Amino acid sequence: MGLMYSYGELKDFVDHCGRCPLSQTRNRAVMGKGNLHSPVLFIAEAPGRNEDRDGIPFTGRSGELFDRLLGEIGMNREEIYLTNIVKCHPPGNRDPKPEEQETCIPYLKYETLLLRPKLIVCLGRIAAQRIIRPDFRITREHGTFLERKHVWLTAVYHPSAVLRDETKLPQMQEDFRRIREKLDETVE
Ligand code: URA
Repeated sequence: MGLMYSYGELKDFVDHCGRCPLSQTRNRAVMGKGNLHSPVLFIAEAPGRNEDRDGIPFTGRSGELFDRLLGEIGMNREEIYLTNIVKCHPPGNRDPKPEEQETCIPYLKYETLLLRPKLIVCLGRIAAQRIIRPDFRITREHGTFLERKHVWLTAVYHPSAVLRDETKLPQMQEDFRRIREKLDETVE
């Protein structure tokens, strides 16, 4: 099945989106970024202040940790694709509201259709509960895998949760090693 819009057209829609009130307070909408042929799609929550300024996902401290974790499994941002559930910064860094997530999710669905990833990694509770299951428990279930429509799904802590509580770092590193193993098994 051919898709109606190209990646560039989708980005254009996102960049000029006015579908919810976040569009009135944002500086820049933040489309996902990375390798459009990547087998792995990382999905976080919503842009923070740095991302709102730069228009690029994970440019702040969480992004530095994310890059380090990727590096430890021999990967970098050019090999993956990274996006958010909600493309605009929620004021004061609050959680995106359910209705904001609902309004924005068609963009993520379309990104996923264009990318056709083999593995989806949710970064944090908000993404895991929207993508995997509404009652997903990140503390208990991070690092577990399930398969849905021939795509593997998993969730890990949000990097900012690891920055707040460094005792979570070894578990996060272990989850990233499992992501690497799953990719090595899944992608020829
Ligand atoms: N936190 C997120 O969830 N996404 C970003 O892009 C940056 C920080």
